[in-house]
Amino acid sequence: MASNLEEKIGSVKFFQAESVQALASNFGALSNEVPDRYIMPKVEADAVAENGSFELPVIDLAKLRDPQFSQAEIAKLGCACGEWGFFQLINHGVDKDLLERMKANITEFFNLPLEQKKAVAIESNSAEGFGQQDTIDEYSLELNKLTDKLLEAMSKDLGIESDALFNLFKGKPQLMRMNDYPPCPQPEKVLGASTHTDGAGLTLLLHIASNGKYQSIEHRVVVNTMKERISIATFQLADRLSTVGPLPEVVRGGKENYMSLPYLEYLKGFLSNKLKGRNYMERLMIKYKENNKEKMASTLEENFGSTVKFLHAESVQALASNFGASSNEVPDRYIMPEVESDSVAEKGSFELPIIDLAKLRDPQFSQAEIAKLGCACGEWGFFQLINHGVDEELLERVKADITAFFNLPMDQKKPVASESNSAEGFGRQIVASDEQKLEWVDVLSLNTQPVNQRNFQFWPTNPLTFRDTIDEYSLELKKVTGELLEAMSKDLGIASEVLFNLFKRQPQVMRMNYYPPCPQPDKVMGASAHTDGAGLTLLLHVNDVQGLQIRKDNLWFSVENLPEAFVVNIGDILEIASNGRYRSIEHRAVVNAMKERISIATFQIPYRLCTVGPLPEVVRGGKENYKSLPYIEYIKGYFSNKMKGRSYMESLKIY
Ligand code: OGA
Ligand code: NI
Repeated sequence: MASNLEEKIGSVKFFQAESVQALASNFGALSNEVPDRYIMPKVEADAVAENGSFELPVIDLAKLRDPQFSQAEIAKLGCACGEWGFFQLINHGVDKDLLERMKANITEFFNLPLEQKKAVAIESNSAEGFGQQDTIDEYSLELNKLTDKLLEAMSKDLGIESDALFNLFKGKPQLMRMNDYPPCPQPEKVLGASTHTDGAGLTLLLHIASNGKYQSIEHRVVVNTMKERISIATFQLADRLSTVGPLPEVVRGGKENYMSLPYLEYLKGFLSNKLKGRNYMERLMIKYKENNKEKMASTLEENFGSTVKFLHAESVQALASNFGASSNEVPDRYIMPEVESDSVAEKGSFELPIIDLAKLRDPQFSQAEIAKLGCACGEWGFFQLINHGVDEELLERVKADITAFFNLPMDQKKPVASESNSAEGFGRQIVASDEQKLEWVDVLSLNTQPVNQRNFQFWPTNPLTFRDTIDEYSLELKKVTGELLEAMSKDLGIASEVLFNLFKRQPQVMRMNYYPPCPQPDKVMGASAHTDGAGLTLLLHVNDVQGLQIRKDNLWFSVENLPEAFVVNIGDILEIASNGRYRSIEHRAVVNAMKERISIATFQIPYRLCTVGPLPEVVRGGKENYKSLPYIEYIKGYFSNKMKGRSYMESLKIY
């Protein structure tokens, strides 16, 4: 793990300052002059309110915990966080004796002669240094518990599940900063802590996560002429791999007031803007024009910016149905010249690896089968999954309902037609430019998991059983995918939580493909060469027509349909997360001159707010082979590079 700051956040330097206490101890006899580097001219000029002219809100933790009072106290807490961003916490239940011990230890430490403190001096570019193990340990744990209680109460105030916050602060990373502010003969010229907002969780991160509902307030520390002052700040940090941004649970489809970015990026920016107060925070704000009506969260604009469009294409099936009598001419926009020229391997010249889910489940065979799975993902990025346990009868219903839907007359498919710029519905194609070629396919695309992401306006009701069938199928595939992720975790030697966190709540998208026959099959593409912008894809052949091809060693290989198997392939997200151990292979779908072809691709996509990048648990201090970026950024790039095969993936590689 990168614990070295340099590695984590690059451009910022930690400077081992000389001890200010040692410096201050020389004042008196000869001089009271404060060295220039400590003088902050702004201190004198800033207006300070009179003593006693305000009081911080007081929050009572005992009341927060007491059912009789909690509701009112939570409201008070919400107010305090929103208006002040500061409060005094009383009745916190942290043992008095422990607090006394902590104070005594810290004071004692700071009062040690400098020589002895040097033993824990900060090394250049490390962020830590200290001693006093046991007491600090105990105190740290107590404060962790305290923070949990506050996060829980805040979740209630924000009207969200506490998981959302606990996840942001997963593992509860905590940093303690013990401050000794020596007295200074020129207190109006220096600052113990210059104006800043805290980069940690209970303040700034919550400001952003709450979409601005909670405030992260600027504060500073002035020093005293005669007396030293000692304090301990305990920061709740965010999970190293989390994304800092407004929680969707808080935003609820409204507008996001802050940008989202990986925590490490955020931290870099935070530290390089030190001494600039709220400046960095302001830069993260998204400013909206007055009266600018915001788009819905599910529109492409909001999720991916304006570079990519989802086009509601005319139905290719309808187009194809006009062939015959007068003409067989394929419209220009569908003609892809490279199809003819690419070399395709001979039939039967290869076979995909076969993975047996029953064996993966069986303790007697699982170890060997996991190794086989690892090989398949690493070498091919594709395999056939057999004995997956999904009920044969359910699969028959899925096939029947989807076929029935695509065979409906056009006007009966219209009710679920995609709207301009919606990622879902019937007939959508992704286009990055107006000139981009179109694929020879009709697509019905649906968000299927988690259930609250379903937009039923796009779910067919004809055939009547369609929704129930897809609901059932979606759940079964979620389970199978979960099992595969678990086995892959074992193969990668990581805890399965790591992947389950990347794919939190297992978001799933289904893409149902109808490839009409085409009189000029070597001039069009059902799906042009691409890698999947997902974690993992499970493809079901709905009818027995072949068309899927995968690229290996610059040759296209046709995948044989294996009855009752899913064709599984690794998507970009897992290639990147596995740091290249698994491969996201280019594939495409060719069309048939005479027969229609139908398939269903079920994509395991990552959590919307995750960061796409090599997992540290896989990299283990080695070299990262891919860049890390927020998923939203990744997917924007993915769609704008549609029709360019693996070129986007290649651009994410680090050499
Ligand atoms: C896809 C895909 C292939 C097929 O939908 O991403 O690759 O055979 N489909 O339909
Ligand atoms: Ni695909």
